[in-house]
Amino acid sequence: MPVIKAAELAYGRLRSPDLDKQEEFLTAFGMVRADRTKNALYMRGTDEAHHLHVTELGEPKYVGIAFHAESLGDLEKLARVQGASKIEDIDEPGGGKRVRLTDPDGFQVEVVYGMQRLPKIPLKRPPVNTGEDKTQRRNALYYKGVERGPSHVKRIGHFVVHSPQFEKTLGWYREVIGLRCSDDVYADSKDNIVGSFNRLDRGDDYVDHHTFFCIRSDKAGLNHLSYEAADIDDIMIGHEVMKAKGYEHFWGIGRHSLGSQVFDYWGDPWGRVHEHWADTDVLNASVPPNLIGRHELNGPWGEPIPEKFMHHAVR
Ligand SMILES: [Fe+2]
Repeated sequence: MPVIKAAELAYGRLRSPDLDKQEEFLTAFGMVRADRTKNALYMRGTDEAHHLHVTELGEPKYVGIAFHAESLGDLEKLARVQGASKIEDIDEPGGGKRVRLTDPDGFQVEVVYGMQRLPKIPLKRPPVNTGEDKTQRRNALYYKGVERGPSHVKRIGHFVVHSPQFEKTLGWYREVIGLRCSDDVYADSKDNIVGSFNRLDRGDDYVDHHTFFCIRSDKAGLNHLSYEAADIDDIMIGHEVMKAKGYEHFWGIGRHSLGSQVFDYWGDPWGRVHEHWADTDVLNASVPPNLIGRHELNGPWGEPIPEKFMHHAVR
């Protein structure tokens, strides 16, 4: 049994030398400022989480990732893990309590409980007249229901890292945080696992196909942080904004095979990749782990995975 089964992903924590520039990028990406202090920026989406992205002021760095715990009792269990902090009050906007841990590659993992929730940011999206029911939008024009502008980030979906000690890192997230395998990916022969897609374990409840993808690598670092957008059109709309602003494009637009999301990847001014996606496969705990070949990673449409993106890892 794992130490806990995390309830949800909470936020990614980065460090950047210029919070104005970071906020400009994240606003264009479709997040909304939740708070900003002298030393840090907190960005939210349209869902209720107080924030889903933290940037501390400092030299560029991937500090780590944060999960929500289901209960205070889970924080007590984590505080007994070797190397863990005691339960701390979070001295940051949004409050709550946390335990800080360090994963095998040295990145911080916060598990938080009791963080403030904010009212949802209302967002109206026009229904779509496709498929069998062509009258979901009646006597109404689609284009009048959407505006040009940034995407609308809803929530954080997953994070992806490279690890030079793949089994250890993967094992740690499974044993301490309670993630479970959705798909292991092999190359050449079935015993050569090169990546692993893992999801939350919420029993009968359905969760995103993956919350964590770990890549076997010769280096440790963040490949990308990933955020759910309002819908597929919302990704297209946001793509125009990011392109016009000259941000570095890494991959997309396409549809993944594993997880099936429609995706688009953008680098921030310091090369940290942020993904937009919409429409994911959801699985519950009844689905056993699956083994697939790397050659099956290309989805039904979109360009194949670029080398530049595949090998991208920032510390
Ligand atoms: Fe992703």
